[in-house]
Amino acid sequence: MSAYSLARSALFLMDAERSHELTLAMLSRYPQTGGLLAGAIVDDPVRLMGLDFRNRIGLAAGLDKNGECIEAFDRMGFGFVEVGTVTPRPQPGNPRPRMFRLRSDQALINRLGFNNQGVDALVTRASRARRRCVLGINIGKNADTPLELAEYDYLACLHKVYPVADYIVVNISSPNTAGLRQLQEAERFDQLLVKLGEARETLAQRHGKRRPLLVKIAPDMEDQQLLEIANAVRRHGIDGLIATNTTIARPGLEALTVAAEKGGLSGAPLKPRANQVIASLRTSVGADFPLIGVGGILSGEDALARRQAGADLLQIYTGLIYRGPGLVAECAQALAAHR
Ligand SMILES: Cc1cc2nc3c(=O)[nH]c(=O)nc-3n(C[C@H](O)[C@H](O)[C@H](O)COP(=O)(O)O)c2cc1C
Repeated sequence: MSAYSLARSALFLMDAERSHELTLAMLSRYPQTGGLLAGAIVDDPVRLMGLDFRNRIGLAAGLDKNGECIEAFDRMGFGFVEVGTVTPRPQPGNPRPRMFRLRSDQALINRLGFNNQGVDALVTRASRARRRCVLGINIGKNADTPLELAEYDYLACLHKVYPVADYIVVNISSPNTAGLRQLQEAERFDQLLVKLGEARETLAQRHGKRRPLLVKIAPDMEDQQLLEIANAVRRHGIDGLIATNTTIARPGLEALTVAAEKGGLSGAPLKPRANQVIASLRTSVGADFPLIGVGGILSGEDALARRQAGADLLQIYTGLIYRGPGLVAECAQALAAHR
């Protein structure tokens, strides 16, 4: 039995969020455990969006919302680590319980609602982290900011994270902040991208470096809307898309009581849809536009399939919970072996 499967047996006896908090506290205090748990680190360098990645496997947003464990995840062998979602002001998120395991389906449902310590705390930590990996920062809006004013939250975060992030992600796809996904709709999406694009140009001049700006999208869209998004991001000079966030659908889980919990579903049941979205986006955006694939990657085989569907880079979250840190090297190795 590996060190992680032993630890997991204990962690799975606890409430999902509680075990998450304990794990993060341990990784934050002892970053070297990241390396010890992972074992091998895979070097399979790739250059994308002007950034150099050690390998194509990244940590998905939402696991380290406050950037407390960047060093630990770096030592775990991730090529890139995305922290956040962070909002301009700290906020507590939704009432607990708000995170549920669907163990036999290798899935999670969460409705955390962007619980985080605010952008200032994250920026301080990110600026101090010693790391080799690429660092992405994922930004969102506060729950009490009206949708009409959402752009100001994104702009406030963009200004603050710009000097410390290697790339920045605009998250408009969490199902747990009321109305957020409406920002994916054509007119609002266009307006938001115009404002963010202008701000990025100003920031690029001020800091003398142009940081890639990406958008993270939901899996719960018709093909037509996906096509509109693909066209809009290229029109506005966005550097890449991350697909997908969690789903509000419950594919194959309808009979489970826990499936009735509100929130976003991640893990194995999301895999087929997340694969389809990447394949469909790749067709619309052409060969060269950067796509990051995420959703239901739980093995090296899954990683390879997502890469073959059209993703340049991959991210994992739920797979890390069920499979442990060894999954990072397993996925990176699977891709390295099939260049
Ligand atoms: C508990 C939990 C919290 C999450 N929080 C965020 C978040 O704050 N921002 C974000 O963009 N995605 C968030 N996600 C979505 C993940 O980044 C990822 O897109 C999704 O879980 C699908 O990948 P997976 O199947 O590998 O987990 C969260 C996912 C989970 C399970």
